[in-house]
Amino acid sequence: MQVVIADSAAEVGRIAAAKVASVIRHRPEAVLGLATGSSPLAIYADLADRVRSGRLRVDAVRAFALDEYVGLPLEHPESYHSVIRTVVTEPVGLTPELVNVPDGSAADLDAAADAYERAIRDAGGVDVQILGIGANGHIGFNEPTSSFASRTRIKTLAPQTRADNARFFASPDEVPTHCVTQGLGTILDARQLVLVATGASKADAVHAMVEGPLSSMCPGSALQLHPHAMVVVDEAAAARLELADYYRYTHANRPAWQRFEDEELS
Ligand code: GLP
Repeated sequence: MQVVIADSAAEVGRIAAAKVASVIRHRPEAVLGLATGSSPLAIYADLADRVRSGRLRVDAVRAFALDEYVGLPLEHPESYHSVIRTVVTEPVGLTPELVNVPDGSAADLDAAADAYERAIRDAGGVDVQILGIGANGHIGFNEPTSSFASRTRIKTLAPQTRADNARFFASPDEVPTHCVTQGLGTILDARQLVLVATGASKADAVHAMVEGPLSSMCPGSALQLHPHAMVVVDEAAAARLELADYYRYTHANRPAWQRFEDEELS
């Protein structure tokens, strides 16, 4: 796992966006995996800047979101269909027809989840998956004790996740109890993973994900199984990392072939 400790939340977004942009530059029809939540917003803002200034073209980019609430109408402002459209598709300028979000309103949710898996496979798989992490270690909506082999399916949201996400709804009772989420096995199939985390509330989860045992109690620890996983955190989210100095050292001494940011600047 490549761990990068950045000075600020904005820098976290810039570094992760440089990685994503480098994948798109090498493959204009790249398949992106999109995450919701506040953490990746800086990535999307940075990608939007690159597109606006003509440094990046995204017309052919395809995308698959990680998850969706069950039971929210698509047009609800907090459905991930709406959120992905307003924070990613529109500002970055992705082609709307090429952006997919799991269907949380389908009459047959199991069939819709299977169809989503097939659609990802038919697209050739995800080239780079953007991820955040919940305070309880969840990625996507894979709550603690999710199987490392899980595929897209219905999940029950943990009470902590519902409480964390209540800030987006008029009252805590309005937060749905269920979701459809890509599984940990689905996420691990992506060719590259880029996870971002900022703030002190993520410090325990980041420590468990990077340095804790491989355990379904911290679904994020599944990243330890992936050969190309990059974790970008700010100082506050890095506060509990035991090997923080080592990560700083390895980042400062990266060989030239690993420096995708330099390529972005050229
Ligand atoms: C949400 C999403 C996750 C996200 C996480 C953290 O519930 N389903 O994909 O990573 O919670 O969100 P935030 O970045 O706002 O802390």
